[in-house]
Amino acid sequence: MPETTVLSASDPRNIESAAQVLREGGLVAFPTETVYGLGADATNATAVAGIFEAKGRPRLDPLIVHVADPREAARFGSFRAQPAGLLMERFWPGPLTLVVPRLGAIAPIVTAGLETVALRCPAHPVARALIRAAGNPIAAPSANRFGSVSPTEAEHVREQLGGRVDVILDGGPCGVGLESTIVALTDPPRVLRAGGIAVEDIEAVLGPLERALSAGDRPLAPGQRAGHYATYTPLDIAGDGEVPAPGERVGLLAFVPPEQAERFAAVEILSRRGDVREAAANLFSALHRLDRLGLDRIVARPVPETGLGEAIMDRLRRCAAGSRQLC
Ligand code: TXA
Ligand code: MG
Repeated sequence: MPETTVLSASDPRNIESAAQVLREGGLVAFPTETVYGLGADATNATAVAGIFEAKGRPRLDPLIVHVADPREAARFGSFRAQPAGLLMERFWPGPLTLVVPRLGAIAPIVTAGLETVALRCPAHPVARALIRAAGNPIAAPSANRFGSVSPTEAEHVREQLGGRVDVILDGGPCGVGLESTIVALTDPPRVLRAGGIAVEDIEAVLGPLERALSAGDRPLAPGQRAGHYATYTPLDIAGDGEVPAPGERVGLLAFVPPEQAERFAAVEILSRRGDVREAAANLFSALHRLDRLGLDRIVARPVPETGLGEAIMDRLRRCAAGSRQLC
């Protein structure tokens, strides 16, 4: 078991030390604009195997490969399909992952043997500096134990993966707070996961898109299982009528300032001004806080499904399904 060192990302020497750990085949958790990633050198199969071990993640679930610069992505995937250029120009660097035919030196364990690879150029300056300093692309899933709520602060990573990773680079809270949107550049292109870029914004570039969130029993993006993002506390999505029974300790995850707040043991408000983008940034940290309180259950109020609201409701539905499986 490695001893985990937490380093501040505001000192450039720490980014260099973390890059050295990656070059030597170690694991580094690092901030991106979406959530913290658990990174290894994407060209080093043994290092990448360590990610699956640390997370307890099934080997059949492929990882996203992160590059520092949009131009580098073409070394690892084929971007010839016409929408690729449009999407990269408009949304990279940023919270959009593109699934394209694979090329080049990525270790097969990264793509779980698929002929496609998921590539993303993150916008976070620490992530980009780390990839550049490491000299190779970084394979990274979200830095949580498999199936749990994703980390948006270094402390969330330490709680879940302390003792399982070499370094946690602390770059403060993540600005977007939801994982990247995943688009497969098949013909026609398909949305595999709603996320940090609203699907409407992508549709404004490509026209209406199919949402292929699963194909029968086998999800196209395996992290799209119903039970992903589970809290340990049972969670239900319910409107204003749902209030605690006498003696019940219930946490409320509210979108805007709620009615009857006094009836709940704890209340988290995602956005006082009703802004879905702000709500997205606060979602996972609010879930982590409520989940630590040992409550009987959590009630989440629905969020309007426009813009990032679609991804918020996607995560809450999966969380609701998963939290029931864990109990
Ligand atoms: O924002 C994000 O995307 C974060 C940060 C760290 O970049 N990463 C992240 O990774 O959310 P992860 O492993 O938690 O989710 C990656 C998703 C999984 O659902 C996986 O199945 C899917 O991407 N995926 C990866 N490669 C794929 C491929 N070739 N085809 C289809 N889905 C793929
Ligand atoms: Mg994940």
